[in-house]
Amino acid sequence: MPTKLQKDIIILAIESSCDDTAAAIIKNGNILSNEVASQQIHELYGGVVPELASRAHQQNIVPVVSVALKKANIDLKELSAIAFTKGPGLIGSLMVGSSFAKSLAQSLNIPLIGIHHMQAHVLAHFIDQPIPAFPFLCLTVSGGHTQIARMDSYFESEILGKTIDDAAGEAFDKTAKMLGLPYPGGPLVDKYAQEGNPDAFQFPQPQIPQLDYSFSGLKTSFLYFIQKQEKINPNFIAENLNDLCASMQHTIIKHLLKKLILASDQTEIKEIALAGGVSANSKLREMIVTTGIKKNWKTYIPAFQYCTDNAAMIAMAAHFKYLNQEFESLDTAPFARS
Ligand code: KG4
Ligand code: ZN
Repeated sequence: MPTKLQKDIIILAIESSCDDTAAAIIKNGNILSNEVASQQIHELYGGVVPELASRAHQQNIVPVVSVALKKANIDLKELSAIAFTKGPGLIGSLMVGSSFAKSLAQSLNIPLIGIHHMQAHVLAHFIDQPIPAFPFLCLTVSGGHTQIARMDSYFESEILGKTIDDAAGEAFDKTAKMLGLPYPGGPLVDKYAQEGNPDAFQFPQPQIPQLDYSFSGLKTSFLYFIQKQEKINPNFIAENLNDLCASMQHTIIKHLLKKLILASDQTEIKEIALAGGVSANSKLREMIVTTGIKKNWKTYIPAFQYCTDNAAMIAMAAHFKYLNQEFESLDTAPFARS
């Protein structure tokens, strides 16, 4: 916390890496507002259409930033810095956020802070108490990434394992799509699974060495299974929707936790955090806690508003970068690819 003589650190953060336009205000490390405009248009197409996402970001960014400032009761003149998601993400979407942030920082003559989206998902754990102690392991599971990282400090980490093909969120979304459910399907699989039997159907556990993940073989075996069953009974999906969701969800979560247990055993780290959109999954949240009790872990699960894409996590990461005085040059490339 700054003393009376020090200036408050107030940052406006913008997140626009995929299909959510988000803005947040953080003051001295405390989130004052956290706004998200989700883009409904993609539901019509069963997935994110990059060009439509960029256009929607252009329409949403000014109103979302205005509401974030208003709710935080902060004037533009009070801002110490502007932060934005530098990547990874959809290039057109990232460009909207980065151009907006750069122009605003330039016009206000304040520093610009670029944030790595995946780092921000992990640093969301520092928004509210309890916060994990370094070193900790973080399983980050989103629509584009699945990885286990050992976090040694806010910005020093090592990726111990990651998916060699699809991300866990993608596996959830594709499962939903194969079952005829709308995009984004992850939350719907979660919802139907709550009424289903996770042992109703058996799908092969991916066999991948070490701490890496793979979901594409599982996805294919699920597809072949439902195609075969639908030939025998055309109402198979409708009659077994809850059990299909529960069984597939169970297989995905077992694979996620198996590698996390291995990572904890290998590193002897028992501070374990979960992050990313899939961390909103009710069964995953429940199972990481029960696994943690058995394995004597301290588990950290983000509040729901910080699981899926949000600007509060960008703001939290930006606060730490501001303290380190790590700023972007105003003529920096607009985005990072990885
Ligand atoms: O982190 P995120 O919002 O965006 C990316 O950075 O990708 O993650 C989005 C992913 C989507 O695949 C979505 O279906 C999944 O998170 N997701 C869920 C749940 N809520 C969001 N998957 C399973 N169960 C949920 N409750
Ligand atoms: Zn994300």
